[in-house]
Amino acid sequence: MAVVELTQITKAYGAGENRQTVLKDVDLSIEAGEYVTILGPSGSGKSTLMNIIGCLDIPSSGNYHLQHQDVSQLSEDELARIRNQEVGFIFQQFQLLPRLTVLQNIELPLIYAGVSPKERRRRAVDLLTRVGLGEKGSVYPHQLSGGQQQRVAIARALVTKPTLLLADEPTGALDQKTGQQIMGLFHELADEGKTIVMITHDITIAKQAKRIVRIEDGQVQEASHP
Ligand SMILES: Nc1ncnc2c1ncn2[C@@H]1O[C@H](COP(=O)(O)OP(=O)(O)O)[C@@H](O)[C@H]1O
Ligand SMILES: [Mg+2]
Repeated sequence: MAVVELTQITKAYGAGENRQTVLKDVDLSIEAGEYVTILGPSGSGKSTLMNIIGCLDIPSSGNYHLQHQDVSQLSEDELARIRNQEVGFIFQQFQLLPRLTVLQNIELPLIYAGVSPKERRRRAVDLLTRVGLGEKGSVYPHQLSGGQQQRVAIARALVTKPTLLLADEPTGALDQKTGQQIMGLFHELADEGKTIVMITHDITIAKQAKRIVRIEDGQVQEASHP
C-alpha cells in the first residue's frame, strides 16, 4: 500500500481578496520504495506540496494519509511525532545547527525520539561513515564545504530510519559537480529501497529519478508511473 496518498488536496493562503489557491485538487500516490521527483517552475507550489507531504503544514481541504495514518485527524503533538518518526527532511540550505558538531547534528532527531546516548552515537557514527565523512564527526558545519554539509544533512535525515526521505532542491545550493555527487548518493539510497521524494525545478535532476511528477500552477499534470 502507498506510503503517501494525497486525495483532492487543496491549499490556499490568505483571506478575502488576497486569497490565493496554491494547490488545486492534487491527487498523488507514492508507493514504498519509489524514487520520485516533483518537477515544476518557481512558484508552482512545490514547497507547499512538500510541506504537506512532510506534515509541516496541513491542507485546506482534501485527504492525506502518510503510512496509513490520516494526517488531518492528528493533533500538533502527533504531527510532530509523525514528522520525527516517518520523515527525513533534506533542504537546499542544509539547515544544520551551527553550534553543534557534525555528530551532534546527526544525533539530534534521536534525542527527540528518546534514543539512548550510546545508541545515538553509534547510529550517527555509522551514518557519517555511510556518507563518506567518517573523519569529520567533531568539526562544526562551517568547517565543511557545501557538499559535505549536505552529506551531513542526509545522514541526519536517515538516522531515525524514516519511511520517507523528502528533499527540497537538495542540489540547489551546490555547484554542478558537487550536486551530481549528492545525486549519486540519492541514487544509492534509492537502489537500497528507500522511498525518496525530491523536489526540483531542474529537468536534468528530475530525469535521474524513476518517476517524474510535474506540477504547474498548483496542479499535478502527470503523476503516472513509468
Ligand atoms: N506561507 C505562505 N503564505 C502566502 N503565500 C505563500 C506561502 N507559501 C507559499 N506561498 C505562495 O504560494 C505559491 C507557491 O509557492 P511555493 O510552494 O513556495 O512554490 P515553489 O516551491 O514551487 O517555488 C507562491 O505564489 C507563493 O508566493
Ligand atoms: Mg520551493
